[in-house]
Amino acid sequence: MYRAFTSRRAVQTDAKFLGDMLVEAANWRSGGLRPRHEVLASAEHRRYLAGWKRTADDGLVAIDADDVPIGAAWYRMLPQNEPGLGFVGIAVPELIIGVHPLWRARGVGRSLLRGVVELAGSQGHARISLSVERENFARNLYRAEGFSVVESTGSRETMVRVTV
Ligand SMILES: CC(C)(COP(=O)(O)OP(=O)(O)OC[C@H]1O[C@@H](n2cnc3c(N)ncnc32)[C@H](O)[C@@H]1OP(=O)(O)O)[C@@H](O)C(=O)NCCC(=O)NCCS
Repeated sequence: MYRAFTSRRAVQTDAKFLGDMLVEAANWRSGGLRPRHEVLASAEHRRYLAGWKRTADDGLVAIDADDVPIGAAWYRMLPQNEPGLGFVGIAVPELIIGVHPLWRARGVGRSLLRGVVELAGSQGHARISLSVERENFARNLYRAEGFSVVESTGSRETMVRVTV
């Protein structure tokens, strides 16, 4: 039986928790433990959170029965001159997702993913993209939730989903 969780819209004061989830995403491979400060300072990752919450940023935070954050999925529009790993176009927001390790494999990630796709659609974004390493099982979750591979480079894939 899954423990109860719900989700709410991410707000500006969620920045620290989103940072935690960004670190989880960067360290998805068990044993790959890049320290928080290193991940958040890296050019590869800081663009997904620096200055949160900008006008076009949006997302969801999953919370437990005590309102404690347990996972988050958010998106951000990145400029062409500083694109994200999953950049497919200037008007397509890029998704980031992470769930606290103690809450994994309980449906939180799938629920957040569905919710954030719907949120993006409701905010007028026709598509949403992401980048995932081929070995990350999350790739199967994305496929099952309607994301398709649009580019494959080295160990990574860029995936896109139409939101409506
Ligand atoms: C990827 C992630 C967000 C998924 O969230 P989650 O809450 O664990 O996922 P869910 O419980 O909703 O499970 C989704 C599916 O993945 C499967 N799954 C979950 N954990 C798994 C694992 N360790 N290995 C293989 N499959 C797994 C589930 O079985 C489920 O499929 P099913 O419904 O057909 O059984 C979460 O595991 C995570 O934060 N990972 C580290 C960060 C990361 O990799 N982020 C993505 C970077 S692109």
